[in-house]
Order: sequence, then C-alpha cells, then structure tokens
Amino acid sequence: MKKIGSQVTIAIDGPAGSGKSTVARRVAEELGLLYLDSGAMYRAVTVLAIRGGLTADSPELLEQVKACHIEFEDNGKTILLNAKDISVQIRTPAVNRRVADVAKVPEIRHEIVKHQQRIGGEGSIIAEGRDLTTIVFPNADFKFYLDASVTERAKRRLAELQAQNVNITLAAVEAEISARDEKDKTRAHSPLRAAGDAIVVDTTDKTINEVVDFIIAKVC
Ligand code: DC
Repeated sequence: MKKIGSQVTIAIDGPAGSGKSTVARRVAEELGLLYLDSGAMYRAVTVLAIRGGLTADSPELLEQVKACHIEFEDNGKTILLNAKDISVQIRTPAVNRRVADVAKVPEIRHEIVKHQQRIGGEGSIIAEGRDLTTIVFPNADFKFYLDASVTERAKRRLAELQAQNVNITLAAVEAEISARDEKDKTRAHSPLRAAGDAIVVDTTDKTINEVVDFIIAKVC
C-alpha cells in the first residue's frame, strides 16, 4: 500500500456514470482512506421521503433529516439509516427518479453537508459527489473532476443494468442520464460544476485502472 498523510482530503466531483464512485472506492482501498459516497446520503433522505409519503420540500422531511442517523459501515459499502441497512433500497428505480429533486432542497443540503464535513474531520478521506470540491471541502488537498461523454456514460450504465437483467435500450439510458445531468447542473444551489482548481479527467477512453493510477500518482 502506498503512503499518504494522516489528515488528507481528496475530493472528486462529476456527473453520473463518470466513474467516480468506482474510482474513489478503489483509491480508498489502495491508500487506506475512508471512502465517502455523498450521493448515498441524498439517496437515504429520498428513502425517508418515499417511506413517509413526503414531498422533497416538506418541513416534515427536513425534521426527519435533522433527527435521523446516517452512518456508513464496511468503508462505504453499507449505509445505515437509523441503524437499519438500506444499501439495496437506495439503488431502486423509485429512488433514482426522485433523488435529484430531494438533492436540490437547500435546507436538506445544509444538513447533509454538515454531516459530511464531520465525517471528513475524522481522518484522511476520499469523498465523491457533485459539490465536494466546491462546497463541502473547498480546501481539499486534492480535487478532481471526472467526466465522460453522455454516450459512454450511458453505455457503462447499460452494462450494469444488463448485468442485473434489466431490459432497457441505450437510448432510454442516455435520455435518463441527460435529464439527471440537466437537473444537477442547473439547480440553484450547489450545481454540479468543476472547481477552478480541480484537475479535470476525461474518462471516456480510459479504463478504471488508468484513472485510479492517475489519481494515485498525483496524490502520493
Ligand atoms: O452519485 P449518485 O447518482 O448516487 O447521486 C444521487 C443524486 O444525488 C444525484 O442526482 C445528484 C445528487 N447529489 C448531490 O446533489 N450532491 C452530491 N454531493 C452527491 C449527489
């Protein structure tokens, strides 16, 4: 294992399908860092909304977010909501459809960002999402913005879905990804954008290994 300092923050942002979760998880394993999947936290809040039949901007949902406990186990592989494992629920189509609306509510973001910053204070971390380099950890030691063409990102997502026996066309996946990009990039609060001091990596023609090696070479 390569060595890295005791309080180092690596932040990665990028759109859905840019490879940031897989890359961040691998870098975390190779460097012995804590891995923070920030999208999973917005997904957990979406589970709360669906369970309670609550709209994203309802005061009840915000109260539940303030009162709930979201924790990670097994270095980010398992997410617990009030001590219950919701790792499978957060990836369901119902959550996919609603999470962008939940993630655009400023008061919810405020609570989740506080939580992420607390986790970041606990030791060396690699965190990925949409606003990690801009809002959550603006002073991160290393910042990366991963991107890839919409078609390439849709192909990656299609391969994942086909592996789960989901029957869907490339065009439909591309449309879903474009719609989510649009929501993430144009929302009023913390829109997805590359921080001025982030290293931009186009992963369209790169393998996961190549991106992982690139990041490790930059930070070690
Ligand atoms: O990375 P993901 O697909 O799990 O993210 C789910 C949603 O949450 C996505 O629509 C963007 C949003 N999100 C966000 O607004 N801010 C983050 N830091 C991470 C995710």
